[in-house]
Amino acid sequence: MDPRDVKSNLVLILDFGSQYTHLITRRIRALNVFSLCINGTSSLKSIADLNPRVIILSGGPHSVHALDAPCFPSGFMEYIESNKVHVLGICYGLQLIVQKTGGEVRVGEKQEYGRMEIEVEKACGLFGNRKVGDRQSVWMSHGDEAVKLPEGFEVVARSKQGSVAAVENREKRLYGLQYHPEVTHSPEGMETLRYFLFDICGVTAGWKMEDILEEELKVIKETVGPDDYVICALSGGVDSTVAATLVYKAIGDRLYCAFVDNGLLRYKERERVMETFDKDLHLPVTCIDATDQFLSKLKGVTEPEKKRKVIGNEFICIFDAFAQDLEKKLGKKPAYLVQGTLYPDVIESCPPPGSGRTHSHTIKSHHNVGGLPKDMKLKLIEPLKLLFKDEVRELGRIMGVPVSFLKRHPFPGPGLAVRVPGDVTEGNRLDILRKADEIFIQAIKDAGIYDSIWQAFAVFMPVLTVGVQGDQRTHSYAIALRAVTSHDGMTADWYYFDYKFLADISTRICNEVQGVNRVLLDITSKPPATIEWE
Ligand code: XMP
Repeated sequence: MDPRDVKSNLVLILDFGSQYTHLITRRIRALNVFSLCINGTSSLKSIADLNPRVIILSGGPHSVHALDAPCFPSGFMEYIESNKVHVLGICYGLQLIVQKTGGEVRVGEKQEYGRMEIEVEKACGLFGNRKVGDRQSVWMSHGDEAVKLPEGFEVVARSKQGSVAAVENREKRLYGLQYHPEVTHSPEGMETLRYFLFDICGVTAGWKMEDILEEELKVIKETVGPDDYVICALSGGVDSTVAATLVYKAIGDRLYCAFVDNGLLRYKERERVMETFDKDLHLPVTCIDATDQFLSKLKGVTEPEKKRKVIGNEFICIFDAFAQDLEKKLGKKPAYLVQGTLYPDVIESCPPPGSGRTHSHTIKSHHNVGGLPKDMKLKLIEPLKLLFKDEVRELGRIMGVPVSFLKRHPFPGPGLAVRVPGDVTEGNRLDILRKADEIFIQAIKDAGIYDSIWQAFAVFMPVLTVGVQGDQRTHSYAIALRAVTSHDGMTADWYYFDYKFLADISTRICNEVQGVNRVLLDITSKPPATIEWE
């Protein structure tokens, strides 16, 4: 599909603050249709500039009667009418449509939260060939309800309690669902979205990663001037690697990447990632060994936040020096910096109306590998900023990034410093941890369970405990094993290994890693614990 067609098939989501809004974006992209989400109170101009084919008004926590209830901009209804845009309101979105077009929304007598059954009352495109009387289970979450529909609207489904569950005004191309079709608790929700987009709105599916690749390459080529240089800090993670690979494809040797070994990396990490950069991706990467520099600054530092700060500052110094060296070599300052910012980072930092948070575009420091040198005055290239993580993996796959690399578990910027509580430089703590961690991770890979785990790692316990090894009493350290399942790292559960696997790991670590005589398993979810130990 031509990228121009992708744009003419845009599904724009106006976000009114529902916790599920981003799921709508994902579900639509899963149907191979390009979809973007912007603040529900964005100006009419910013909506019109995107030229959407379809607009979805999301749910939200407000009542349409509240004084601060967020609403689409004035002139919106006229805009959609004259541009023949199809609109679907979901939950709060439906109530907004009803209220703003002459209907009535009231606090429901029986508020509906959770799983409900709805019944088709009138054959309608939203339900495909479902007949009148057909039922389906859906996820409701609303206090207000539409009690009087505006002229031209019809109820097409009702809940068992008799409240409006779905409406349409075919002539005006307006549709509404009181429930959330985007959540998995509405098992037929995806089907409804599909009927809406393809049958009712006539959207053409065809948004593919290949289109994104083509489009991004074009944008980068147009943005970066023919004499401009671009720099990129590679962390060894998926996002920065895919972003750099993309930019390299677009501008070739004018991209200069740096990979910093801060002495806090996993076993053989430097060698492994450099080999991938070189052999698989042919990326020009300078490897900077700054182990001594980092570890000398970390000596005696025990407080986790202080460790993070020291590491972040040191990284900035090193990257600054890298840019200055380049300037000397090239006779010109690099103009751009590549960052692997993802879509969730961008939307998280543009909070929806009514959330009480300010509307700022700040990127989480996690993703900056320690932040940017402020006075470098580099312009940003963020080629992944419209993509979700799984889409970035797909893009990487198309560009030849090895799948095993794309499936790597996340690794924190401060590295092993957050896996050795206390002073990381004391004795041979880092070496002990690296060996134990490597045994654990390799065993997980050998057992074929690596991809079922969000993150797995060993943690060094800075306590000496008594043991007996050979015929001798030992006074050695303990190692904790941490493995969690998660969707986004915000919440997590511990991974249930089988006992035999754990017994083998414990034996191997105690036998093969000198200085360890005890292995513990962390069986805490998040919350109350966090994933890292710090
Ligand atoms: P926590 O420990 O907060 O971790 O439950 C959640 C996710 O974030 C990663 N993490 C970090 N990543 N810099 C990073 O780049 C950090 O300082 C940092 N702290 C935690 C952690 O590995 C997990 O994936």
